[in-house]
Amino acid sequence: MSDNTSEKKNEHGHGTTGHSWDGIEEWDNPMPRWWVWTFYLTIIWAVGYTIAYPAWPMINSATAGVLGWSTRGDVAAEISAVEEANAPINAKLEAAELTAIAGDSELNSYAVSAGAAVFKTWCAQCHGSGAAGAKGYPNLLDDDWLWGGTIEDIHFTISHGIRNEDSDDARYSEMPAFGRDDLLEKEEISQVVNYVMSLSGEPNDASKVEAGAVIYADNCASCHADDGTGDIYQGAPNLADALWLYGGSYEDITETVNYSRYGVMPPWSADASPAGRLTEAQVRAVSLYVHQLGGGE
Ligand code: HEC
Ligand code: HEC
Repeated sequence: MSDNTSEKKNEHGHGTTGHSWDGIEEWDNPMPRWWVWTFYLTIIWAVGYTIAYPAWPMINSATAGVLGWSTRGDVAAEISAVEEANAPINAKLEAAELTAIAGDSELNSYAVSAGAAVFKTWCAQCHGSGAAGAKGYPNLLDDDWLWGGTIEDIHFTISHGIRNEDSDDARYSEMPAFGRDDLLEKEEISQVVNYVMSLSGEPNDASKVEAGAVIYADNCASCHADDGTGDIYQGAPNLADALWLYGGSYEDITETVNYSRYGVMPPWSADASPAGRLTEAQVRAVSLYVHQLGGGE
């Protein structure tokens, strides 16, 4: 330890800290003023901030802050600003003649991009994000339509849905379960399945096709048409185009004929059904989006 620390002064008039290690001592210079004041300011700022903004964690949430700001509120404000900005064009979309929208390029491009967003949120989980569908969920990219591919047909299908109990106007039809309900014998089913496979040139047992054609004419043609091209008024698929909703193998078709399928889609339009979730502008937008995907008539 040094013995005369208190007597030492540097050129600013400050002494040493009083500590000495192997003869090395330290000047007791104070913090620079600017630094000290900045430090006090940050403390004042922090206190003000926790009063103004959500800050202190409580049991269920944090203190709200006197400004009432929240990220959730920010998002809500942004959403309502977008809705307000889009209100006029949505009104125009709802008022327009359905068939005339495609001809109005500004309205149409708005509808198609809004429709794409609706599709990603509400439709992709069944029809696939690219609308290519999956087993039991139709591909919306092709021009093979169960219930019709005009803009009016598509709009109606989406508004009311298919075989659901929520809309009184839902698209409805029911293929009989020929096997389960004993409407046809096992061998007759095998014959008619082979006939159906022959319609689209799938490999089949030629010895059964002739008998199958007779069974088809008696039991199937009323819905799927004499030539197998289907009927959009009954949602009966085209059986002659090698595009299959439920699969085109012998086993898949046999399963369809034995048990039938009964594909269900919910209604989307709030106008058409209390269970509907979308505004008329959104239903129109997504209808136009689906219509222009490639297969719209
Ligand atoms: C819960 C699953 C499900 C959701 C969600 C769904 N769909 Fe469907 N959709 C189906 C099924 C199943 C069918 C076919 C029903 C049948 O066999 O007739 C179908 C059929 C359709 C058809 C008729 C296709 C044709 O060939 O005529 C259109 C158009 C359609 N959906 C559009 C949409 C749109 C647009 C949305 C979103 C707003 C949507 N779907 C959401 C299940 C769904
Ligand atoms: C009352 C009308 C009706 C009759 C009769 C009917 N079908 Fe169907 N069929 C449908 C409908 C509707 C569908 C769509 C299935 C669904 O989503 O429920 C369908 C679907 C099918 C499919 C599936 C097509 C695919 O793309 O996967 C096959 C195969 C089929 N029917 C064959 C037959 C055969 C064979 C008969 C006669 C033995 C027959 N149907 C009689 C209405 C009918």
